[in-house]
Amino acid sequence: MSYTLEQLSDEIRGALKADSGPAGKQAVCNLVSKALLDQEFIAKHLTADQCRPRKVLYEDPELGFCVCGHVYADASTGKPHDHGPSWAIYGVAVGDTEMVDWRIVKRGEGDAPILVEPAKTYVMRPGDSHLYDVGAVHSPNRRGLTKLVRIEGENLDNVKRSNIKAVEPATAK
Ligand SMILES: [Fe+2]
Repeated sequence: MSYTLEQLSDEIRGALKADSGPAGKQAVCNLVSKALLDQEFIAKHLTADQCRPRKVLYEDPELGFCVCGHVYADASTGKPHDHGPSWAIYGVAVGDTEMVDWRIVKRGEGDAPILVEPAKTYVMRPGDSHLYDVGAVHSPNRRGLTKLVRIEGENLDNVKRSNIKAVEPATAK
């Protein structure tokens, strides 16, 4: 039987109510992976006509987390970013995605950007999910058609992202 959006949302709510810290969010990663491996779930929710490129599939009225579907048709190189005060979980359903974790070199003061340099690169494959906790700077590189289930700690439509800039290679330590 298929894993439904309602089941996923209910189980995420349960996991975050049981533990709103890192362990609870890791439990959410496991739930996301379960959805990623369910072909009926993917076929129903991660369609190009619904997700251009992001659609909020479910927003929890109490805890505020969102289950989002993303469909990207083309290759792209992401810019380093965080999600302001929110955490996020990326889950890959279709298309290998190269993720880059960035290290903060200098915290900007006032209007100055936070300066970052690449720290780690790894490939996420279908079924993989990964937690980016509050303040974790990351960027995705897509080689072609990619479909994601992404959980946002709060709806990112309402969140201001940090001002982040990659340091030039010549000045990187
Ligand atoms: Fe992100």
